[in-house]
Amino acid sequence: MATAAIHYSQHLARVYVWMCGGAAAALQAGAAEIAALDLPGCPGALVADLGAGFGMHAIPLARSGARVLAIDSSPMLLGTLDELRGDLPVRCIEADLLSFRSHLTEAPGAILCMGDTVTHLPELAAVESLVETAFSALPRGGVFVLTLRDYSVRLAGDCRFIPVRSDDARILTCFLEYTADAVIVHDILHDRNPDGWHTRVSHYRKLRLPPARLINRLEAVGFDVRREAGVGGMVRLVARKP
Ligand SMILES: C[S@@+](CC[C@H](N)C(=O)[O-])C[C@H]1O[C@@H](n2cnc3c(N)ncnc32)[C@H](O)[C@@H]1O
Repeated sequence: MATAAIHYSQHLARVYVWMCGGAAAALQAGAAEIAALDLPGCPGALVADLGAGFGMHAIPLARSGARVLAIDSSPMLLGTLDELRGDLPVRCIEADLLSFRSHLTEAPGAILCMGDTVTHLPELAAVESLVETAFSALPRGGVFVLTLRDYSVRLAGDCRFIPVRSDDARILTCFLEYTADAVIVHDILHDRNPDGWHTRVSHYRKLRLPPARLINRLEAVGFDVRREAGVGGMVRLVARKP
């Protein structure tokens, strides 16, 4: 099975902006999410965006006055971020998000891990390590914000086929398969070429991480945690270091 990094580099990265409705619409949606967060110290603060992708949150953050450290393992998505950011203060680093602390030059006012990125981690121990590192990297009053999908309830039968986006030239459908602690996400991509439709399929593993379990880990290291409804059916956790 492909790792998340390979799945993105060989399959998903080239259609990711399209999947999100195009850059303009995605950045507008990201800006609305950022505005709702009312992050401490913005403008002016350093914010680390872990698994930043093409900058759906990093770019609106920088537009609102933050200096952003954007970390992602996909060079293609970071390349798009770099094109979209213009002169905005976003520093792009191609790295594993678990290593984010080694790229910080000062304590960040906030750390974000948005868009279901945390479930891309390989196992629960990696999530625990991320939570501990985020707590120790933040100053008092700093926040760690995560948005994730709750895969703890299994979809069954036809409900496991999820139409993601389609237009005249492309169709993307997800198929979900469950194991005890993971969901295998099959991304089925149909592209229309001059000679007809071409189908490519790739799959990768996401953690089934019940939000209550993540909240327990966040609270165990010392965060005060607020659970809210995120966009598109995601769960948003706002963890503040007291
Ligand atoms: C679902 S996308 C979310 C992107 C962005 N946060 C957003 O909301 O649009 C997950 C992103 O995390 C990145 N990613 C996954 N695992 C990673 C890891 N271990 N280290 C760094 N980036 C990772 C992927 O390349 C991808 O850009």
